[in-house]
Amino acid sequence: MLTCELPENTRPKTMTNEAIAAQRAPAARAPAAGLPDYMTEVYDWAYVNPRWVRFLDRNAVVSTLLFGNAGRLMRAYLKRIKPGMRVWQVAHVYGDLVQRVAQRVGPEGHFDLTDVTPIQISQARGKLGGIPQAHVTEHDASTWAGSADYDLVCSFFLLHEIPDALKHAVVDRMLSRVAPGGTVFFVDYHRPALWQPVGWLLRLVNHYLEPFAYAMWGREIRDFASNADAFTWHKTTYFGGVYQAVEVRRREA
Ligand SMILES: C[S@@+](CC[C@H](N)C(=O)[O-])C[C@H]1O[C@@H](n2cnc3c(N)ncnc32)[C@H](O)[C@@H]1O
Repeated sequence: MLTCELPENTRPKTMTNEAIAAQRAPAARAPAAGLPDYMTEVYDWAYVNPRWVRFLDRNAVVSTLLFGNAGRLMRAYLKRIKPGMRVWQVAHVYGDLVQRVAQRVGPEGHFDLTDVTPIQISQARGKLGGIPQAHVTEHDASTWAGSADYDLVCSFFLLHEIPDALKHAVVDRMLSRVAPGGTVFFVDYHRPALWQPVGWLLRLVNHYLEPFAYAMWGREIRDFASNADAFTWHKTTYFGGVYQAVEVRRREA
């Protein structure tokens, strides 16, 4: 790179060497204050770094990462939403899923979306800005107070990205926020069948990029609930066991 050093006596008098250096330096990213450690140590590139976030937040990326299964996994969630429902989705998802949820609850319904990362909140607000029934809040899902009367509470691929202790806390919090007769719905990774070649690729991905995902292979989601027996758990697997959708309902008293 060609650089040009101004002689000391021709620089504007107010410019110090530090100011000149600062002008040349690429804009530094502000530290992500208040984020959980795993977001900056493991997932910075995926969910915190603005350049990557802008690139990744599109349907084609979600569809590719889910090996073409995004459509049916999203439909499994969306078909449970009826107009007028109160829905809490615990974390933002790239692409247009959040708009589709907000549109399905309709003007009589209520959609709460939480996320722990500020840039994800601003992406979500950009998508949901004109939809009055949609409410976006920066908050950790494990401590979200919300209300306790949601008809549907959904985690779409959050659990495999958080440490196990937090998996427990998020699952318990979700179960505590659903109304009697309501549904808690999890969509996430699962242990693939041995014949499924994608499983071998995911072993590499988990090893290098997704350190908290293996827990989804070895344990049922109900194992993360403190009070699992108070609920019924119905699991469906997809794509040779790579993915699971678990529908949970509170048992009648
Ligand atoms: C839902 S997960 C994975 C979604 C999926 N890979 C996709 O296509 O977007 C990613 C989101 O979870 C959020 N997140 C991580 N930990 C969280 C927590 N404890 N509470 C709420 N949101 C959280 C991240 O900020 C990120 O926006």
